[in-house]
Amino acid sequence: QAADDYQQMELAAKYFAHQLRKHPNSARVIDYLKGRGLSGDIVKSFQIGYAPAEWDGLLKALAKSQNDKQQLAELKLLNNNDSGRFYDFFRDRIMFPIRDRRGRVVGFGGRILEGDGPKYLNSPETRVFHKGRELYGFYEARQAHKNQLEQVVIVEGYMDVVALAQAGISYAVASLGTATTTEQLQMLFRATKQVICCYDGDRAGRDAAWRALENALPLLTDGLAMTFLFLPDGEDPDTLVRKEGKDAFEQRLGQAQSFTDYFFEHLSAQYDLSTDSGRGALLSDARPLIEKVASEFYQELLTERLAKLLRRDVSQIKSHVKTQKAASNKPSEALKMTPMRRAIGLLVQHPSI
Ligand code: GTP
Ligand code: MN
Ligand code: MN
Ligand code: MN
Ligand code: MN
Repeated sequence: QAADDYQQMELAAKYFAHQLRKHPNSARVIDYLKGRGLSGDIVKSFQIGYAPAEWDGLLKALAKSQNDKQQLAELKLLNNNDSGRFYDFFRDRIMFPIRDRRGRVVGFGGRILEGDGPKYLNSPETRVFHKGRELYGFYEARQAHKNQLEQVVIVEGYMDVVALAQAGISYAVASLGTATTTEQLQMLFRATKQVICCYDGDRAGRDAAWRALENALPLLTDGLAMTFLFLPDGEDPDTLVRKEGKDAFEQRLGQAQSFTDYFFEHLSAQYDLSTDSGRGALLSDARPLIEKVASEFYQELLTERLAKLLRRDVSQIKSHVKTQKAASNKPSEALKMTPMRRAIGLLVQHPSI
């Protein structure tokens, strides 16, 4: 009987890892990884591998039958051309196996070494790989911390996760190309109370951060924290941690912006708050977002900050926000009052900012 999908994916990871050690042309790949500061141990712990520049390397190693070929094509480890020929999907790339939370290999990221073509080629969605549900490095981070993660930092790239681990920061994960989804954030907040979003300071990084924040708002209950760190121009966590070292990088992480600060920094940058219309626009943008927040405590913090920016009394704004909430007859699941939330809401009358 043929191996199941997860077994095939695991065999593929083993094949790539083996090629990195044994393939006659892998010396330049090992040099490349060394040049990027990675040790053999870290390469092994992420099971980084190499897909040789061949059309049938994996095919020959893994496909014993026509059924195998079909299965490997469905797992996107093989391509299938019009004339029915199968060939390797990943060729001449550094391979990063992506594991699900249980440690099963579900996909791969493949980095080009040099030359033409997209820098990264990722496994397309398959029946075992759903990008919006997986986080690169999450399994490895939980392993490193025996499932007791004090904090998790979300970064943009595979190499960032690996370089941080190499530096001793073994709690980084990367979302896979897309903005961090609600599902991914849910997964993280089940494992930790503190999530730090660490993105490039460029347009793309800032957009990704804002979308992550929007997705996180309904999940942010009282005990959870989310912070934001934008890196200087031209740096990513990989380059920065190699330049500055672990302590300096962790210091940056510790000084990341609270989500409440980032919330208003982002929104107020879009309007001229010295005008009535600017303040009106801020109110209409901020209100629905504040109403999405799961924690009443955080809702109050945000409402007070909003009032300051609008130059109104907190009570005015508060009643405004509450009125909106009362007006909508179907509160979202996250907004439903639990006895605990009600109690906390009553206790926290005037939180300091
Ligand atoms: P290095 O250049 O090796 O340091 O990688 P990086 O992680 O710094 O790459 P970059 O900052 O350019 O991109 C961040 C992440 O976006 C990558 O890790 C990939 O997940 C994704 N990405 C980058 N380039 C591509 C691409 O060409 N195609 C796809 N599908 N994803 C990409
Ligand atoms: Mn899917
Ligand atoms: Mn960037
Ligand atoms: Mn980068
Ligand atoms: Mn990089």
